[in-house]
Parts: sequence; structure tokens; C-alpha cells
Amino acid sequence: MFYVGAVLTAKGLYTFQQTLEAFSLITFSVAFSGALLGYVPAVSKAARAALDLLRLLRLDKDTAESRGTDRYPIDGAPAIAFERVDFAYPSRPDALVLRDLSFVVRAGESVAIVGASGSGKSSVVALIQRLFEPSHGRITLDGHDLGATDVRFLRDHVAVVSQTPVLFDDSVEANVLCALAWPRLD
Ligand SMILES: Nc1ncnc2c1ncn2[C@@H]1O[C@H](COP(=O)(O)OP(=O)(O)O)[C@@H](O)[C@H]1O
Ligand SMILES: [Mg+2]
Repeated sequence: MFYVGAVLTAKGLYTFQQTLEAFSLITFSVAFSGALLGYVPAVSKAARAALDLLRLLRLDKDTAESRGTDRYPIDGAPAIAFERVDFAYPSRPDALVLRDLSFVVRAGESVAIVGASGSGKSSVVALIQRLFEPSHGRITLDGHDLGATDVRFLRDHVAVVSQTPVLFDDSVEANVLCALAWPRLD
């Protein structure tokens, strides 16, 4: 650039100031373009993530999530009953995860569900949160059918500490506040 600038200036085609301006322009714009190019992978990732989010927001709302409007007073820990529950995940309808499962947890009682890995413990907890619905049978809270219960109301009364909790890179307090705010984000 200096060589070309020197030749152009010597021939009187450029003034000295014009040469310096062109030099600065080229140097800075190339450096900044290079820095910007570094963001290309992040931009394409963000675009893909945004599309995923939009797809989630557009998902058909008429799912198990939206059915049920019952709200009832829940005083302390309610009784939970599984009545002859069969359950298979919608993605694998032929693989029965729970078969004819019945049990009662009386109000205030602590219960441990024990079993080998893959025996369906987490699935029981997912059903209580109504992330899925039983294929057969029913689940009740203090005698109220979970399937008819307002799902937001239900989840306001359920706390789950999962096996592998998702933690954000922030304080414990911020993480707890996030978890509390989550059901109300819509
Ligand atoms: N989202 C899912 N879709 C399909 N199958 C699943 C899903 N989650 C778990 N399963 C299957 O359901 C069975 C029970 O899993 P799970 O309830 O997680 O067992 P546990 O918590 O007792 O280890 C396993 O065979 C597992 O592969
Ligand atoms: Mg589990």
C-alpha cells in the first residue's frame, strides 16, 4: 500500500493526504471485517436457536398441557394416588414403561420409589407433573383427577429436584429465582 501510494503521489495522481486516508481506510476496515467474521459461527448458531424457539412457540397448544381447568384448595401435602396406571411414552407407544401401577401416598407421608435404572421412577414423577398422561388408569390428588386439573395450578404446587439440575452461570439465589419465575413465563 505504501509503495502504490508513493507511486501515485509521485505521479501527482494522489495528494499526500489522500494517500494517508486511503491507507487508514483499508487498514482499519480489513482489521474490523476480520474481527466481525469471527462472529459468523455464533450468528448462525443464534439463528438456528431462534428458529427452534419460534417452532416451540408455534406448537399446537391443544395438548395435555391445555386440557383441564379444575382448581381446588390444596392444604399442605395432598394425597397422591395412582390407580391402575399404564404408561408408554408417546414417542415409543409400544414400549410400556409402567404396567398396572397402583399406589397411594397419604397426605404428608414420605415415600421412596426404589428400582433399577430404567424401571420407571422418573416417569412416575413426570406423570405427577403431568408432563405426560397415563395411557390407562388415572392419577388423583386428594381424590381430584389430575387429567382434569389446571396444569398451571398443579405445577404451582409441585416442586421437583431433578437428577441433573440445569444450573445457570449465576448465584444460587439467581438460579432459585429463575426456577420460581419459570412457570409464569408466557
Ligand atoms: N422421553 C422418553 N421417551 C421414550 N422413552 C423414555 C423416555 N424417558 C424414559 N424412557 C424410557 O422409559 C423407561 C423408564 O425410564 P425412567 O422413568 O427414566 O427410569 P428410572 O428413572 O427408573 O431410571 C426406560 O426404559 C427409558 O428408556
Ligand atoms: Mg430416573
